[in-house]
Amino acid sequence: MSLVLIPSSEKKVRADLFVAACFEKEGPARELRTLEPAAYEASQQAVSKGRFDGKPAQQLMTYNPDYTQAHEFFLVGMGPKKDYRKMCFRKAASEIVRKARAIKAKTVRIALETFVSGEVTLAEAAGIFAEMEKLALYEFDRYRTQGENGKKADIRFEAFLARKGSLASLDKKIAAHLAIAEGVIRARDLINEPGNVLHPQQLAKEAREMARKKKIHCEVFGKAELEKLKMNGILAVGQGSTVPPALIILEYGKAYQSKGTVCLVGKGVTFDTGGISIKPSKDMEKMKYDMSGAATVIGTLGVVADLGLKRHVVGLVPTAENSVAEDPQRPGDIITMYNGKTVEVINTDAEGRLILGDALSYSAKYKPKMLIDLATLTGMCLYTFADKAIGLMGNDENLVQKIIQAGEATGERCWQLPIWEDYREFIKGYHSDLLNVGGPYGGTITAAMFLKEFIPEKTAWAHLDIAGTAWSNSGRFDCAKGATGVGVRLLTELLSR
Ligand code: BES
Ligand code: ZN
Ligand code: ZN
Repeated sequence: MSLVLIPSSEKKVRADLFVAACFEKEGPARELRTLEPAAYEASQQAVSKGRFDGKPAQQLMTYNPDYTQAHEFFLVGMGPKKDYRKMCFRKAASEIVRKARAIKAKTVRIALETFVSGEVTLAEAAGIFAEMEKLALYEFDRYRTQGENGKKADIRFEAFLARKGSLASLDKKIAAHLAIAEGVIRARDLINEPGNVLHPQQLAKEAREMARKKKIHCEVFGKAELEKLKMNGILAVGQGSTVPPALIILEYGKAYQSKGTVCLVGKGVTFDTGGISIKPSKDMEKMKYDMSGAATVIGTLGVVADLGLKRHVVGLVPTAENSVAEDPQRPGDIITMYNGKTVEVINTDAEGRLILGDALSYSAKYKPKMLIDLATLTGMCLYTFADKAIGLMGNDENLVQKIIQAGEATGERCWQLPIWEDYREFIKGYHSDLLNVGGPYGGTITAAMFLKEFIPEKTAWAHLDIAGTAWSNSGRFDCAKGATGVGVRLLTELLSR
């Protein structure tokens, strides 16, 4: 179920819950006086008694058998109007859908216009609400065989609108945001899927399946092709697994090539044991999320196709399982990467940069105007930002700033770290050109310095370390515990701009 648009002039049967906004120091929205006079009265009283003043996240629930829209009324505090941003409405929307679920409402009527102010236009509010409904209620429950899973009742959300005239622009916005939500959920599903199910071949299958549905081109290089191309970074990581590695290529919008190609590269380590340099057991189960970058790239390509963006976008997803079966690489092994540079593998747990290195240099084939990679690359990034920011590094300030702005608009915030040449000494090899680790300090930066060695000449490149943001340990307002699907909204916004 999604958001239905209904003119408030239409007489409707009672809903189970009626919702309106209240900005701080403004009192309950004036529209409420005509829509539900008794609720307006009750809200006024709560404000005058100091029980409610519209602070962000403040909530007032009142019940009255005489209410006409619904017996239960929910007033949501939105904070001061001057600080009102899209993010405030995202949070409010998620509170509304979660409240609806908690009280087992079947129909929820929202005075959507009361939430409109500043950058939150009516169309924006309708779109964001539709998106948040999907994201806030999402759960990965396909492996729960008990309880009410899969059987949760659908809720009908009605946007109750006083505005007259065409609602076509709102419908268009809703459709776009639903496509975005679908992309985020596709990414979350792929990430939450465990390593025994989602191995590299399965990831390739999922990508193919999506490409078929969205009518985008998909090609998968298997072991033989990787050998032929000498993609030894991907092969070296994959050699420790019984499931062979692959390079998945998704291509959309070739007709728009003349406007410049965007290449998106995503780390697809379907499980990271660390390899011979094995990880400690604690939290190792979470290493199924080491393919979050891949999931984001796949999810984003689906959205780009749904929105029909006029852009040539190529997704490159190197995928492997980093394990210790078969003939795993040893610390000290020296490999020759796709671009000819040699790397001494000091630590087999620094595997992401090996598979990304090959994919990044392979992007040269598309002569990208913009090259962006996403990867759960370093534990250090998680230590630095927790789950609050993406670590952003790049060789082109214009691209970096565009990404920062897209992140501010969507709430997927990025923070830039330097990749000065001074850091290069840490990854300089002795028996080889490069080392795959840069010592104990500045780990997020030295990982990016390694990637930089594989960027095609004169290509604007940005690297997003999503090790902190791709997973939520405790859940967030817009996301259940587990995969967040970070990056889909950010990249879609960037490409739309
Ligand atoms: N996948 C990990 C990074 C990671 C750690 C992501 C924790 C999310 C949470 C990556 O492959 C890795 O193991 N990196 C090492 C690099 C080190 C050996 C130089 C790390 O960060 O410890
Ligand atoms: Zn690792
Ligand atoms: Zn990893």
